Amino acid sequence: MNPDLRVQIEKYIESLFVPLDPVLTRNIADAEAAGLPAIQVSPNQGKLLYLLSKMCGASRVLEIGTLGGYSTTWLARALPDGGTITSLELDQTHAEVARKNLERAGVGARVVIHVGPAEQTLQQLIEQQVPKFDLIFIDADKPGYPRYLDLSLQLSRPGTVVLADNLIRDGGVLDAVPEEENARAARAFNAILAADARLESIIIPVLGKKVDGMSISIVK
Ligand code: SAH
Ligand code: DHB
Ligand code: MG
Repeated sequence: MNPDLRVQIEKYIESLFVPLDPVLTRNIADAEAAGLPAIQVSPNQGKLLYLLSKMCGASRVLEIGTLGGYSTTWLARALPDGGTITSLELDQTHAEVARKNLERAGVGARVVIHVGPAEQTLQQLIEQQVPKFDLIFIDADKPGYPRYLDLSLQLSRPGTVVLADNLIRDGGVLDAVPEEENARAARAFNAILAADARLESIIIPVLGKKVDGMSISIVK
């Protein structure tokens, strides 16, 4: 499928199901103005995150990789009253931009951002025996995914939904040894995910100028 057609289909779906939203537009504009990379999920994927979270009735959500809080906003909007998101971010600047964006979106009170390496924070959450999460979205550094998955499973219960972003890398994962580091990491992670007997999983393609993919798993 040529890239133009992919973008047209993406925009067609967006025009039907993801109305323009000033808060989300401003989120992306402010993140860009602050020098953050524009690597947030697409609008359609944001809507998908929102729907998946509602479908599983998630009230405790864990996000690994906050950036400017774009996906966080979608997930926060899906929460029932009293629901919370714990979002992990390495970069202090990203976390500050995200906090402002989340406040403006009116969901600041539902989100706690932990700044630091996600692996360390996850270990702390496990030690603190926080209540299990209902939905976990993995979207930080790609080589860290296998570790994040393992630690996430210690914060899960049967039925927890686990999602992971950027697993197709425009087909880069089809090569036995992908050139791009993130594609190499995604290919390794995909094999681990497929073989993990604790989960039932699939990857759905995500259309855009490039094709990417997101895994959807449920903990057995
Ligand atoms: N989920 C966001 C995008 C996240 S981009 C959205 O869709 O809107 C990936 C983020 O992971 C970046 O902000 C990056 O700083 C962060 N990150 C990278 N390495 C990390 C680590 N070791 N621990 C926590 N966060 C990390
Ligand atoms: C890229 C995209 C992402 O969604 C992400 O989380 C990290 C990197 C990228 O295209 O490089
Ligand atoms: Mg991503």
